[in-house]
Amino acid sequence: MYEWVKAFHVIAVISWMAGMLYLPRLFVYHCDAEIGSRQSETFKVMERRLLKGIINPAMILTWLLGLYLVWAGHWYLAGWFHAKLFLVLVMSGVHGFFTGRVRDFANDRNTRSQKFYRILNEIPTLIMVAVVILVIVKPF
Ligand code: HEM
Repeated sequence: MYEWVKAFHVIAVISWMAGMLYLPRLFVYHCDAEIGSRQSETFKVMERRLLKGIINPAMILTWLLGLYLVWAGHWYLAGWFHAKLFLVLVMSGVHGFFTGRVRDFANDRNTRSQKFYRILNEIPTLIMVAVVILVIVKPF
């Protein structure tokens, strides 16, 4: 049971991360699209579907299965898990920030630059690298 849950946890993680790495790319290109243009309206649909159809359900499943693993594996006192939990909470905060930006673009109210979104794109990548090292290597 534990290994099956861990397998589905990692599948949910892959879906969540795929969305978290792709969505800010859409924001970068959306900045270039004229408000009201066909291209801008298409980006709105892509952003909404990616968020609602993939990123949100994948995050919920990652958390539910991850918390089961903590409980079943008795990991709550492990140092690596505390560090991982902190980083995953930051990742969930970035997720919330992305949700706000999808809303901004949907209402043609984006005020941030392409450069801002290019830099933002790196944050989930760095967190993901650190989380995977923590959980597989368990350095402390
Ligand atoms: C959302 C909250 C999360 C919780 C509570 C959580 C908790 C856990 C726990 C307890 C394990 C089992 C560790 C073991 O049996 O060795 C695990 C496995 C794993 N987690 Fe998470 N996790 C979460 C999110 C994430 C995220 C965001 C990532 C990647 C970006 C991730 C990547 C992994 C990987 C790759 C494994 C498999 C490790 C192995 O087989 O050795 N997890 N997780």
